[in-house]
Amino acid sequence: MKITVVGAGAVGASCAEYIAIKNFASEVVLVDIIDNFAEGKAMDLMQTAALNGFDTKITGSTNDYAKTSGSKVAVITSGIPRKPGMTREELIGINAGIVKSVAEQLIKHSPDVILIIVSNPMDTMTYLTHKTFGLPKNRIIGMGGALDSARFKYRLAEAMDCPSSDVDGMVIGGHSDKGMVPLTRLASRNSVRASEFLSEERLQKVLEDTKVGGATLTGMLGTSAWYAPGAAVSALVQSIVCDQHKMFPCSALLDGEYGLSDLCIGVPVILGKNGIEKIVEIELEAAEKAQLTTSAEGVKATNALLNEIGAL
Ligand code: LAC
Repeated sequence: MKITVVGAGAVGASCAEYIAIKNFASEVVLVDIIDNFAEGKAMDLMQTAALNGFDTKITGSTNDYAKTSGSKVAVITSGIPRKPGMTREELIGINAGIVKSVAEQLIKHSPDVILIIVSNPMDTMTYLTHKTFGLPKNRIIGMGGALDSARFKYRLAEAMDCPSSDVDGMVIGGHSDKGMVPLTRLASRNSVRASEFLSEERLQKVLEDTKVGGATLTGMLGTSAWYAPGAAVSALVQSIVCDQHKMFPCSALLDGEYGLSDLCIGVPVILGKNGIEKIVEIELEAAEKAQLTTSAEGVKATNALLNEIGAL
């Protein structure tokens, strides 16, 4: 099965690497606008195949979307990343045009493709793609919640001094510093509530650290993170390609679920061969519901900018 990853920068290349290492796809096509860049990344990655023992063929293409034809899934990472001190929302002007033109090319060459949007502001870029191309809503998915949840698990494991594999936790809401809703009430270590191990104050710190997970790394690295975003995307791609029916929080177009509509925001979904197989509605407490509603207002305010800049 062929997967395309557009944008051969750090996130795209990490994503291609994790997909290849997991050995579930026959081919990964990396696309970039910079001459020979994707080809170079692909060659470098292919030279790890003998060492890392994978059979996935990774190829590169400089903006030639004909090479992406017949892709089952395509990941859009293109656009500019955050610099220290920037919010994801500030990227909208440049990234909206890029995401639209990339999605258009991908759909032209793979009419049945399932799109995963990574470019920021991610919830708004996912919404823009839905509104512009009108594909069935199961086929456009925003990656954010899976990454935010992985960061939440990292912070929970750190606080409980245990391996991340012992921990479960989920972040819903918008993929923004203010909009994330880490569900601390449901976080657990092997089915035991995290609140049994951690004080209210410590859990609150876990929540705050999770919400600024991306900003913290942007400050440390000088650009936005790539390993965890790449790994999160590869997990979504695997659940689709292998029809695993795993549940991840992803940005999905809502139509009444959680009392919200006409926006894309992070909610738990089941991912299988059709993309979003199901949106899972869980019972939220009043405070969580209020946080999700506030988060949705933030996402809608960013979506409104699409009209202002003439992207919609
Ligand atoms: C981050 C970017 C990918 O959170 O949004 O690191």
